[in-house]
Amino acid sequence: MSDDDLNDDIPTPAGELALRTIAMPADTNASNDIFGGWLVSQMDLAAAATATKIARGRVVTVAIDSMVFLTPVHVGAVVTCYANVLEVGRSSIKINVEVWTKHQTTYEPTKVTEGDFVFVAVDDAGKTRAVPAS
Ligand SMILES: CC(C)(COP(=O)(O)OP(=O)(O)OC[C@H]1O[C@@H](n2cnc3c(N)ncnc32)[C@H](O)[C@@H]1OP(=O)(O)O)[C@@H](O)C(=O)NCCC(=O)NCCS
Repeated sequence: MSDDDLNDDIPTPAGELALRTIAMPADTNASNDIFGGWLVSQMDLAAAATATKIARGRVVTVAIDSMVFLTPVHVGAVVTCYANVLEVGRSSIKINVEVWTKHQTTYEPTKVTEGDFVFVAVDDAGKTRAVPAS
């Protein structure tokens, strides 16, 4: 059996590491659970950093697809966002973002959620512009 066969069972994120942060008490609601909106915000930041590099300049978020939260995130958890570029159009860039954390007791990598974020390259006036050829 090769190392690749052994690694097949270990869940791994798709995409490049784009952002890593720690969930803090300020990111919780009254029940001490981390807000879903805080996670979406981290994902938007992670995807925007990737889109900005591709667009070589200003981008705005135009769409976020529906998302499902698979596991809760607890205060103190290290939250990591991975970005995977799906499509580059004339002015748009579609990026899948996966959020992973480590399980509180087993420390197994655990996927929290994922979503597709679409950005549009814009100029100083906020008008769409073509994404430069790479
Ligand atoms: C983004 C924005 C500049 C686009 O303007 P627009 O007149 O709709 O531009 P277009 O119709 O030419 O679309 C531009 C690109 O976005 C894509 N797009 C537009 N709406 C989309 C949507 N809902 N989902 C996916 N892609 C979309 C188009 O397909 C097009 O892609 P392409 O150039 O690669 O072919 C404008 O809608 C805007 O400023 N929105 C607000 C963005 C913002 O403030 N975001 C932060 C919210 S706090």
